[in-house]
Amino acid sequence: MLEKVEQLVEKVKGFTPKSEEELNNFRIEYLGKKGFLNNLFTSFKEVPNEQKKDFGATINKLKQLVQDKIEEHKSSFETATQSSKIDLTKNIPSDNLGSRHPLSLIRNEIVEIFNRIGFTVSEGPEIEDDWHNFSALNLPEEHPARDMQDTFFIQTNPDVLLRTHTSSVQVRHMEGNQPPIRTLSPGRVYRNEAISARAHCIFHQVEGLYIDENVSFADLKQALLYFAKEMFGEKTKIRLRPSYFPFTEPSAEVDVSCNICDSKGCNVCKYTGYLEILGCGMVDPNVLENCGIDSKKYTGYAFGMGIERIAMLKYGVKDLRLFFENDVRFLKQFDKSI
Ligand code: DAH
Repeated sequence: MLEKVEQLVEKVKGFTPKSEEELNNFRIEYLGKKGFLNNLFTSFKEVPNEQKKDFGATINKLKQLVQDKIEEHKSSFETATQSSKIDLTKNIPSDNLGSRHPLSLIRNEIVEIFNRIGFTVSEGPEIEDDWHNFSALNLPEEHPARDMQDTFFIQTNPDVLLRTHTSSVQVRHMEGNQPPIRTLSPGRVYRNEAISARAHCIFHQVEGLYIDENVSFADLKQALLYFAKEMFGEKTKIRLRPSYFPFTEPSAEVDVSCNICDSKGCNVCKYTGYLEILGCGMVDPNVLENCGIDSKKYTGYAFGMGIERIAMLKYGVKDLRLFFENDVRFLKQFDKSI
């Protein structure tokens, strides 16, 4: 009898399960109701008294060994099954990363396009004084053209205001630099306007300024044609209409051909085939002189455009207010990574 138990002890010692199933069978075989150990315990009564001690100790040893074996291998199978549940090839859901605002995308694109023909960015303050926003730009006090831009004044001081256009930055730039000047000034501007689908009290502009000897209107046209083609596509045409701005003479408004209807006429271009995108002109000699630049020696052109306007045309956005509401469903559409 004792010999049989000792044989089992050796067998258990040498046992290594290859699968969870094998380990389970082993457990049932030894520890189950009708297993070896239960049978041995029942046959304990039949063992002669003098052998009981050794026999008991050996069965206990066997039981312990069986339990240890199960414990030892159980955990290894557990980790194996757990890791097999992890699918290492599965895609990780990406974090909800933010995306660039459409106005930033357009701003950057405009800057990039003009960078390529030598323009660099200069910036100025959003809180301006009368000189930089108006007077230096050939808009002296009481000039009727000041009414073209409804101004927010800071408190009651008429000399401190929120800039109504980024043309103020060209004044600052000319005051601090001599030609050749080729600068681009993107930024936020403010006007006291009723908010609607087409107007807002805060919006963004880019101002461009090029001053050197012999700069002509032809240079301006060429630069704007280049810009329009880069921004709206190779087939784009431009059209200049005479206009009036106090700081430029002559002045023009620039339209681009409507690429929605190929200039055939649609409700976006109001059946004209063209869409207005910017104002421009040759810098008025008074402005050059106001900023300390010799108007006998130098000439230059300037232009100013609304970033919202370009973004609306480029992305087909019909309501300007969407740019300021920060609705992620709107903003997500401009995420280039999607
Ligand atoms: N500052 C003008 C505006 O806000 C835009 C503009 C027009 C800028 C003509 C210019 C220009 O530099 O030459 O309406």
